Amino acid sequence: MQLLTHDRYSCRAYSDRIPAAGQIRQILEDAHMAPSACNRQPWRIMVIGPDDAEGRQAIAAAYDRAWISQAPYYIIVCGVADEAWVRPFDNKNHLDVDIAILTEHICLCATDAGLASCWVCNFDPAVLTAKIEFPQGVTPVAILPLGYAASPEIPAKKRKELDDILI
Ligand SMILES: Cc1cc2nc3c(=O)[nH]c(=O)nc-3n(C[C@H](O)[C@H](O)[C@H](O)COP(=O)(O)O)c2cc1C
Repeated sequence: MQLLTHDRYSCRAYSDRIPAAGQIRQILEDAHMAPSACNRQPWRIMVIGPDDAEGRQAIAAAYDRAWISQAPYYIIVCGVADEAWVRPFDNKNHLDVDIAILTEHICLCATDAGLASCWVCNFDPAVLTAKIEFPQGVTPVAILPLGYAASPEIPAKKRKELDDILI
């Protein structure tokens, strides 16, 4: 597991090599074994592939960075708040916790499969939902561009020292 957590990084440059659709499917098969509060699995996954011109255009419009268009695939990880577990003591809805676990599982499974990814939450949800129709109650939480990295180099991690975060 150490290798996966150290090898996953936020990739912002993709090659034009296109992963097989079956490879994307297998990543999602493995990743959706992710745990969720009370096993509610309050998530939906949308895959936007290389031939989905409208979907790709929607992502480019919602996240205005040139590099995002290089990725051959995008996974939009979505949440359904009504399906998520709510802690009875303080009514905290755990949707974002569950979605974060699934999203990172996808990233780690992609790393294991030799693919690169990047969490993207800084998209404009109004632009995205104006251009892509999501089912009622389904909210996009994170976009993951997915593909082969343009470079084999894995950037050095910038992290606080473990001792500085232990309390
Ligand atoms: C919840 C979340 C949202 C993020 N949103 C973006 C984003 O919108 N754009 C981006 O380029 N990176 C985004 N990132 C990537 C972080 O900047 C990155 O994970 C962090 O700098 C650590 O670098 P590393 O992933 O390469 O280890 C996001 C990461 C997380 C966990």
